[in-house]
Amino acid sequence: MLWFPKNKRTWLETFFINLLKAGPVPKHVALIMDGNRRYASKQGLEKTEGHACGFNKLAETLGWCLDLGIVEVTLYAFSIENFKRSEQEVNGLMELAREKFRKLLEEKDKIDEYGVCIRVFGNLSLLPKDIQQILAKVVLYSQKNNRLHLNLCMAYTARQEICTAIQALAEGVKDELLIPSDITEKLMERCLFTRHSTDPDLLIRTSGEVRLSDFLLWQSELSVLAFLQVLWPEFSIWHFFTAVLYYQHNYDAIQKAKKYAAEVKNEEEIEQFLLMVAGETSSSCPVQRQSTEVPQKDNQLLWEEREERIKNFLERLESKHLECLEHMRSGLC
Ligand code: FPP
Ligand code: MG
Repeated sequence: MLWFPKNKRTWLETFFINLLKAGPVPKHVALIMDGNRRYASKQGLEKTEGHACGFNKLAETLGWCLDLGIVEVTLYAFSIENFKRSEQEVNGLMELAREKFRKLLEEKDKIDEYGVCIRVFGNLSLLPKDIQQILAKVVLYSQKNNRLHLNLCMAYTARQEICTAIQALAEGVKDELLIPSDITEKLMERCLFTRHSTDPDLLIRTSGEVRLSDFLLWQSELSVLAFLQVLWPEFSIWHFFTAVLYYQHNYDAIQKAKKYAAEVKNEEEIEQFLLMVAGETSSSCPVQRQSTEVPQKDNQLLWEEREERIKNFLERLESKHLECLEHMRSGLC
């Protein structure tokens, strides 16, 4: 299969896979596949050919991920910044995406065989209409699968993702589905494109650049970051193993930090709720009427009301998202 080639592993590779599997394996790996053009120029190829080699490497890497038991992969395939590249390169990248996603649709049975759920994160309206349509078809077709979640960031930047989430929250307040105190870090996370994902455990960037370039800025707070001195098309299974080993080396410290962060987030949510209760009590129950004649809503009831508001808000967000994908699939967007 084009996207998930079945390559036979050497005995040494198999040995290392089993060795790594004896330790903690990252569940979610994020990839910044950098260095395609430098590779192209090194090999005397056109830039677009460098990107095509990059795609082949991606497919190979997905095979390694499956072998290791990684259940989620997020790829930085095309950033909003990339639109600033030459028209020829942008068109070449779009053509590559068009071709590969068409092939993926033709291999639908394989999507099911591997149980792959494909999601696309980004401002898809910036992409050509026919690509939007193909992507929507792939996403809607694969949405029930759950063995491997493959997230493609296309026309994506993390800042734009965060702004989109803030807009959704602001709209929720404007439409009186939410009240401002409902907005916490936890709710914000549920408005990001990645709301159905776990945060990446390991983020790999190739090419020697040591920055995140507006990729998963919110979600990578506690990810192990592996910056590798290799151009993406030259990334080998041994580079991959090195990054996983690096993750295992840092595992205990990261788990500790994750536990602490989860506690802080829960505390923040409760504190914010109590502040809201205090505010509500002082405005709706003036001091002189705090006797038995005024039935005071207890915290439990207010908490349930808050949960209900959040549930309705998130349901609307989800149905809007689905509606948009269905429009895209039908070519109406
Ligand atoms: C960064 O290398 C790579 C990209 C901007 C494109 C990444 C895309 C692929 C690997 C193909 C994926 C295709 C699909 C259909 C998902 P660069 O161009 O910045 O290279 P440089 O750092 O050497 O200049
Ligand atoms: Mg680059």
